Parts: sequence; C-alpha cells; structure tokens
Amino acid sequence: MDAAALHRAVLDWYGTSARDLPWRRPGTDPWAVLVSEVMLQQTPVARVEPVWREWVARWPTPASLAAAAPGDAVRAWGRLGYPRRALRLHAAAVAVAQRHGGVVPDDVEQLRALPGVGAYTAAAVAAFAFGRRCAVVDTNVRRVHARAVTGAASPAPALTAAETALAVALLPEDAATAAPWSVAAMELGALVCTARAPRCGSCPVLDLCAWQRAGAPPEQGPARRGQAWAGTDRQVRGRLLAVLREADGAVPAAALEAVEDDDAQRSRCLASLVEDGLAEEVPEGYRLPA
Ligand code: ADE
Repeated sequence: MDAAALHRAVLDWYGTSARDLPWRRPGTDPWAVLVSEVMLQQTPVARVEPVWREWVARWPTPASLAAAAPGDAVRAWGRLGYPRRALRLHAAAVAVAQRHGGVVPDDVEQLRALPGVGAYTAAAVAAFAFGRRCAVVDTNVRRVHARAVTGAASPAPALTAAETALAVALLPEDAATAAPWSVAAMELGALVCTARAPRCGSCPVLDLCAWQRAGAPPEQGPARRGQAWAGTDRQVRGRLLAVLREADGAVPAAALEAVEDDDAQRSRCLASLVEDGLAEEVPEGYRLPA
C-alpha cells in the first residue's frame, strides 16, 4: 500500500466532501470536543448535534458542569440513549475541576483516567482538540483500514492488536497531518465506505483499495444481528427515565405504573436505574439524582 497516496486521496476528498460538523470547527474548546466524543460514542451525528449545542451553551467549562447536579446532566441528556454517559461526563467534569484545575488535559494517559473516557475517546480528544499525533480508531476507521489496506470486507468483531498496529503504521509522520487523516478516514467510513451498500463508485481510493482489487469478496461468517429493542429492559428504563426527566420533582411510584404493566419488569428496571445512580428513591417516589 502506498500510504502517501492513500493519505492524499482521503484528505483531498475530505476537503471537498466532509460534513460541516460544529465540533470539528477550528478553535472548538477541548471540553466541547470531549462532550461531542462521549455523545457520539453510541449515537448518530444528527441526534447528537442539538443536544451538544445545548450542553456546551449551558456548561461551557468543566467547572460549570461540575457545579450542576448530576440529575441536571441526566435531564439535559434527553433521548440520546445510554444515559449513564451523562453521569460519567458529569464525573469527568468533577475530575477535571479537581485534578486538572478545570483544564482538560492534552495527554492521552490523563484523558484515559477520566470517567467514561476509553482508549478511543482519549485518542480522539488528544488528536482533534490538541492536534496530538495519535491513532484514532473507531468502527468506521477500522472498516476503511480493513477494506482499503487488508482487503477484508469488514474488521474483526473486536479490535485486535494487528489492527491497532496497522492504524499506528498508517498514521502520517507529520503531526499536523495525523489528526486530519484520522477524521478524514472516519468520515470516509461514515459516508462512503459504509458497512452495508458501500458507495464504491464515488470512493476516492477505489483504485488503491485492496478489497476492490480482490474482487470485493463478501463478509465471512454469519451476519451480525442488531440489538433487539421492543420489550427490552433498555426500552423500559428509557421510558421510566423519560417520565422522571419531564417531572419537576419526585414522581409517585403509582404514576410510573402507567409506563409498564409488568410489575416485575418495572421494579427490576427502577432498581437498576437507582443502582446506576440515574434515579433516587425518596419518600414521595422517584426522581433524578439531586
Ligand atoms: N468528528 C470528530 N469525531 C467524530 C465522531 N466521533 N463522529 C463523527 N464525526 C466526528
């Protein structure tokens, strides 16, 4: 693989075809970048954008979020899903305020030590907020590498050491090009080199792609199933939390019965929300954490 040609093609394409996403604009505060990356972990861009705007306007610094109640973060999380992320961002804000004087660290290890910040998010913040030269490997990047370089239809189910080594080997030497390369590869995976029905006809690296050269062989192994949703505890938890979010104070337990008829499932879900710190049981019923 001619890495320099790959970089050039993907970066040129990014220059003309990337989405104008607000957290990518030059000068975006590192805290706002961190908030975006946590929100984007499991949620599509279109749903994240309005909530991200609201969060960064309301809590422009880690200290401002740290001073708020955790329940305010859960309420402002709205319907983004996986709401424990709101509590972890709140905890990260507290940690930045306490350990780092309110300044988001630019070091991968220090970022990694913050609540809710894993390897991907630490690398993304170091690269995109601070221009650090580090490999940013999300599912879209992994698919682009798998196809363009390795010649496979899709990456392994979980990140392998070989993939990480490939991502590091592909990182441009020049620090100023490394972060743009990562976000450009991510964007190519999101817009063109998609999991299903990739748009190879408009791909800037079609003539370099190892998967195309191999005849675009289909994926090996069984198709992956999406996560079921209807009737799951996740769905019931989401509905219970929506009622708590919309209430001013505590919601009587009886009012929560309307959410789910199945007493056992409702109780189990309420208990797990309390266990996760997303809800509190008080004498009047249940509420978001104060
Ligand atoms: N730009 C920077 N990070 C991103 C992400 N995680 N998803 C989509 N666009 C991004």
